Amino acid sequence: MSRKINLTLKVWRQKNAAAPGRLETYEAKGIDTDASFLEMLDIVNAELETKGIEPIAFDHDCREGICGSCGAVVNGQAHGPEKETTLCQLHMRKFKDGDTITIEPWRAKGFPIIKDLVCDRSAFDRIIQAGGFISVRTGQAAEAHSIPVPKDKADWAMDAAQCIGCGACVAACPNASAMLFVSAKVAHLNVLPQGQPERHSRVLGMVAQMDAEGFGNCSNHYECEAACPKGISVKNIAKMNRDYLAAALGA
Ligand code: SF4
Ligand code: FES
Repeated sequence: MSRKINLTLKVWRQKNAAAPGRLETYEAKGIDTDASFLEMLDIVNAELETKGIEPIAFDHDCREGICGSCGAVVNGQAHGPEKETTLCQLHMRKFKDGDTITIEPWRAKGFPIIKDLVCDRSAFDRIIQAGGFISVRTGQAAEAHSIPVPKDKADWAMDAAQCIGCGACVAACPNASAMLFVSAKVAHLNVLPQGQPERHSRVLGMVAQMDAEGFGNCSNHYECEAACPKGISVKNIAKMNRDYLAAALGA
């Protein structure tokens, strides 16, 4: 049964990339426990607007856990306290009446803050442009069974393809490493027959772009896997490292 709770929010406010940021305190009163976290922010923003205060900027789109747009660090956890859940799918029943909630943006050199909780994640787009595709001739759709895909490979590719590019893995990593994201995007093509012709150029190009964007290296903390709302496994990182070595040696 839903209840109403009162909360204190400490929210990161930052006018633009160059301005210094700070935590501001706001009261969130009478929040329905069935509300989502983003709906709670909508309510707080409506209240701020009535007081002439600029609303809190935050990213969102689908609000269904599928687009990867939302994300914030809630009480130190990327996407908040619910396992395998995006911020938009987190509900206020996870919190208690009287709680104080600290809300901050992703913090990483590769994700510069644009405003408040919004950061620039276009680095991920450039990594995809560096190899996250297959080159195919356009034209008639191929017959469905013309390239058989083994079940274990199909399962691995489907699991890796669940990555929504939210960036929580980077935010959770003490090195701000993007290796979980990049490895998922490499793996979902590199395990499939259709991905084989470009498997070497793909992994070399995407890793080079990842490094150029300023993301750190993996040192096996596994915080990325724990924070990932889609349950992407670190086994993809091990596979990417093997693929990279094979590509670098021309094997
Ligand atoms: S690996 Fe997980 S946490 Fe990282 S971008 Fe993909 S979905 Fe988000
Ligand atoms: S708004 Fe689309 S995943 Fe959260």
